[in-house]
Amino acid sequence: MNQHILSILYIIASVLFIIGLKMMGNAKTARKGNLLSAAGMILAIAGTILLHEGEVGNIVYVLILLAIIIGTIIGWTTARRVQMTKIPELVSMFNGMGGACAALISLIEFQHLFPFDHVPPGGSQGHSGTLICIISGLVIGSVSFAGSIIAFFKLNGVLDKPVRLPRYNYINLLILSVVAGISILLFYSASPITIYALLAIALLYGVMLVLPIGGADMPVVISLLNSFTGVAAAFGGFLYDNHVMLTGGILVGSAGTLLTVVMCKAMNRPIMQVIFGAFGTTASGSSVSEKGTIRDISVSDTAALMNYSKKVTIVPGYGLAVAQAQHAIHELQTILEDHGVEVKYAIHPVAGRMPGHMNVLLAEASVDYDKLSEMDDINPEFPNTDVVFVVGANDVVNPAAKSDPASPIFGMPILEAENARNIIINKRSMNAGYAGIDNLLFYNTKTSMLFGDAKNVITKLVSELKQM
Ligand code: TAP
Repeated sequence: MNQHILSILYIIASVLFIIGLKMMGNAKTARKGNLLSAAGMILAIAGTILLHEGEVGNIVYVLILLAIIIGTIIGWTTARRVQMTKIPELVSMFNGMGGACAALISLIEFQHLFPFDHVPPGGSQGHSGTLICIISGLVIGSVSFAGSIIAFFKLNGVLDKPVRLPRYNYINLLILSVVAGISILLFYSASPITIYALLAIALLYGVMLVLPIGGADMPVVISLLNSFTGVAAAFGGFLYDNHVMLTGGILVGSAGTLLTVVMCKAMNRPIMQVIFGAFGTTASGSSVSEKGTIRDISVSDTAALMNYSKKVTIVPGYGLAVAQAQHAIHELQTILEDHGVEVKYAIHPVAGRMPGHMNVLLAEASVDYDKLSEMDDINPEFPNTDVVFVVGANDVVNPAAKSDPASPIFGMPILEAENARNIIINKRSMNAGYAGIDNLLFYNTKTSMLFGDAKNVITKLVSELKQM
């Protein structure tokens, strides 16, 4: 009876995961979607613990409860305290924990199903399906765990320099071959040495895979590792014949893969180049020969220009997130609207450093979601825009993506800010952005540079506008 109820609970939980995930695709419903999926997870966990088949000692329940309490406290407090710009770090750490869980499940189940002192006659081949699941969960989970931890240290600056040994890709290929070799060996020898050797070499591969990748590419890598964790969890689902674990793993695996593909497409970079290239780590010079001159503009002139405009479009970028200027920009929007100016935000799909970075940032400052326009919708509107205000954005408005075949971002779709009547760019210096390349937009005759930290500059702009 319990098993039937559990099966029904698993179906309900799976449906909640899927509906929740769908709702997360829209900012208005994302919060509810997250709660719905979390409710599905609570249902699955509670059902598994309470309706589990077979006897387990009370101590197991106590241990599970303790683990849940400790995990909840750590997860809850970290997630509440984390700054928006640190979200990729948090995701990489949480993802690493998921990978570690999948690897541990495989390790424990291997010892459980293939006791070291009871190797089935003729090796472990009689259970090849189970063994494939165990090996895949162990390898993929370990790679995801080790890779995510390296990604975490790269993002928080501990490992700020990408490490590239000579013939790095060949070394990684060799390690991968050793992983494959030991995995095959496991079908013949279920010794502790073999399984722990596989764990160690898979962890090493995870470290070596992520170590040479530039810190700025980490969001793509984390999304890829996230899909690995999902696949590793799905193998756990096969192992336990647990449908909800399988569904959850497949959802994470496919969502992570899709996100990786979408990010790469929006940056116009193949995934292989992200993993095996070193983009964003060195300043790759563009083929710009004649740059032109730079024009400065003061805060008061900018305020006047905006105040007498009909339409202002704000292009937020990574610098807005760094400066934590989301509340200030919302105040600027409100005051301009009070003065009769139409204000919109132009959102590039890879502005910032994580998927939906600008959407989340602006939502935090209670910017109305209807004010946000996607790239394809806003691009045709730029010729009728009086002022485009580029705040801490660089690559996403770089015309080299369209005009310079030698540029590393050539082919990346951009916000066509250069078509606006006036272009004001706020950043602190002439430094490059993520792609490490010069931006011709800064030298456009319609462009004026408003140098300074985004929060400081926008706060001053707001006070100027208040006096107008
Ligand atoms: P970037 O091209 O990285 O430019 C950000 C600019 O912000 C910099 O040029 C910097 O110039 C300025 N800045 C930094 N701190 C600032 C502050 N406190 N106040 C004002 N300005 C500040 O950013 P973007 O235009 O948003 O483009 C995103 C890039 O990241 C793209 O190349 C994209 O491919 C890449 N990327 C995105 C993602 C996702 S999923 N979003 C993932 C991986 C990579 P100064 O130093 O001179 O101030």
